[in-house]
Amino acid sequence: MSKYLIITGGSRGIGEKTIAYFQEQGWHTINLSRSPCPLTNVVNIPVDLTDWDKLNEYQSQLSTLIKNPSTISLVHNAAHYERDKVDTLNPQTLKLTLDINVIAAAALNTLLLPIMTQSSSIIYIGSTLGEKAVPNSASYSISKHALIGLMRATCQDLAGKNIHTCCICPGFVDTHLLRDTMEASRLEQLIANKVTAKRLIQPIEIAKTVYFCATNAVINGAVLHSNLGQVAD
Ligand SMILES: NC(=O)c1ccc[n+]([C@@H]2O[C@H](COP(=O)([O-])OP(=O)(O)OC[C@H]3O[C@@H](n4cnc5c(N)ncnc54)[C@H](OP(=O)(O)O)[C@@H]3O)[C@@H](O)[C@H]2O)c1
Repeated sequence: MSKYLIITGGSRGIGEKTIAYFQEQGWHTINLSRSPCPLTNVVNIPVDLTDWDKLNEYQSQLSTLIKNPSTISLVHNAAHYERDKVDTLNPQTLKLTLDINVIAAAALNTLLLPIMTQSSSIIYIGSTLGEKAVPNSASYSISKHALIGLMRATCQDLAGKNIHTCCICPGFVDTHLLRDTMEASRLEQLIANKVTAKRLIQPIEIAKTVYFCATNAVINGAVLHSNLGQVAD
């Protein structure tokens, strides 16, 4: 009997560190993203989650890879983040963001739930922007609010199946997603003014939180604030 992590967006950032940490704990790891995870011993399935309607093409490959599982943890981690505003919102940007951040996760659930054993888990990587909004992040914020809704629906609809779920909501994590979308000086200012711990979160800290959630059914249905403390406005 083996334990399997199936994660989206494991090619870098939080996803890559999550794969590394689960491997250290003896789990098999399967990554779904466009580019491969640079670590060894990972099965990479090259997938563009924009094309979520093609995900069922991978069903037989996944069923073949996952042999006699004792536990499966499905981690919805991949995300698209583009700065945009409600008054000039491009519906195509909103659709793309929802496709990758929400609908692909829902589609993967239907694909994998039939093979998920008791004590498995579905972990969603949300954001502080799942429960609040800031200017210039409209599509992303809408998608992360929706992801919390998907997690809550997962909790209710899987009642009695002994598969638990939660949504981890990181604050500012030192990854490409953050650094590619924010000037360094603006980031420094935000850390100084908005984070009580006055530092960035390291991706490994979120990876360890994912592992804790995957292996502790008591958090079923929870939204976990993983942000080093945010300064109250
Ligand atoms: N960094 C932060 O400050 C922060 C804060 C709050 C929440 N989060 C959340 O944490 C999660 C991980 O983000 P990160 O910071 O680690 O970002 P990252 O380093 O930019 O990694 C994003 C991952 O998503 C994958 N991805 C993006 N578009 C994809 C697509 N169309 N198809 C398949 N995979 C796709 C990328 O893989 P490919 O490019 O290889 O496809 C990459 O592996 C996300 O859900 C993000 O919203 C991050």
